[in-house]
Amino acid sequence: EKDGYDWFMRKEIHEQPRAIADSMLGRRDASGALQLDEIRISEGELRDVDKIIVVACGTAFYAGLVAKYAIEHWTRIPCEVELAHEFRYRDPILTRDTLVVAISQSGETADTLMAIRHAREQRAKVLAICNTNGSTIPRESDAVIYTHAGPEIGVASTKGFMTQLVACYLLALYLAQVRGTRYGDEISSVVRELEKMPEHVQRVLDESGPVHELAAELRDAKSVLFLGRHTGYPIALEGALKLKELAYIHAEGFAAGELKHGPIALVEDQMPVFCVIPPQGRDFLHDKMVSGIQEVRARGARTIVLAEEDDDSVAPYADVLIRLPKVPTLLQPMVAVVPFQLFACELATQKGHDVDQPRNLAKSVTVE
Ligand code: M6R
Repeated sequence: EKDGYDWFMRKEIHEQPRAIADSMLGRRDASGALQLDEIRISEGELRDVDKIIVVACGTAFYAGLVAKYAIEHWTRIPCEVELAHEFRYRDPILTRDTLVVAISQSGETADTLMAIRHAREQRAKVLAICNTNGSTIPRESDAVIYTHAGPEIGVASTKGFMTQLVACYLLALYLAQVRGTRYGDEISSVVRELEKMPEHVQRVLDESGPVHELAAELRDAKSVLFLGRHTGYPIALEGALKLKELAYIHAEGFAAGELKHGPIALVEDQMPVFCVIPPQGRDFLHDKMVSGIQEVRARGARTIVLAEEDDDSVAPYADVLIRLPKVPTLLQPMVAVVPFQLFACELATQKGHDVDQPRNLAKSVTVE
């Protein structure tokens, strides 16, 4: 039941620290090496993989976009991410050495199922990341990594997405271990960072007060933009999707670098623009994103900025500043997505919408 929460979605958002911890459980053997469940693809076959294609829909697709950064960074295997419903119609190039990764919370999404059937007909290997034991997609796959989010009732995916991220990171690290592209120490140190994520996500939840005030303030917004770069880009897309599906507000996510190629023309006075700032690092990513905020602000946007807690460089350009715990860039999606989930849930509640059952949507889309 809802445990005192008004919506399953709100309960599920708050269950995320536990869901992450459960999805991490038992992933290391006595020597500290990663082991994943139901990988019926031999290590030799995994070493031969020369291309990875992630297929998924909706929020799971955004988890796939994050996975691409992690997989390519840690394994150096080229990785494409494709909407499952587009996949088979373009006659994708698949061989025995292609690993197709299907991400699906329900395991019953018809578009994703058809994509893996096509992949298997072409002799590619298929690995499913799934939250539902014994559902169709894992049953038809060569390997499965189960996420342990527990049942997700709200139509909007929250803890499902969070645990998909965990599984994607684990998969990337496991491939790096099997193929020897990263040293054991490096893999262990990322796993330790992942093990700290429940705590970080809990802090974001505990400090989410400003998100509620913000929802009251932006109730009548007609259109909202979300900007990010690198792993912040899929999170911008996810923030926009949540707002569309729950609050029925027009929202769009962009890679911030794309702004000047067109979308900046949309920016009007007082238009809310959410910006995900990458951790402060040695590359130019962070500074480029900061100049992106300056650009929209100069055109009158109201900026709501998500940045690391000790990042002082953004304060002058933020109308509202939401602080995120310090985590590695690749893992930042896990903390950055939480304010977006809460914001959409809260805004939809204030507008009087049915948060768990948004109009026109079904939890599991079993038709193509
Ligand atoms: O069950 P799946 O993960 O395959 O579902 C995929 C999408 O239908 C799903 O993520 C959808 O986009 C959600 N309503 C997003 O909140």
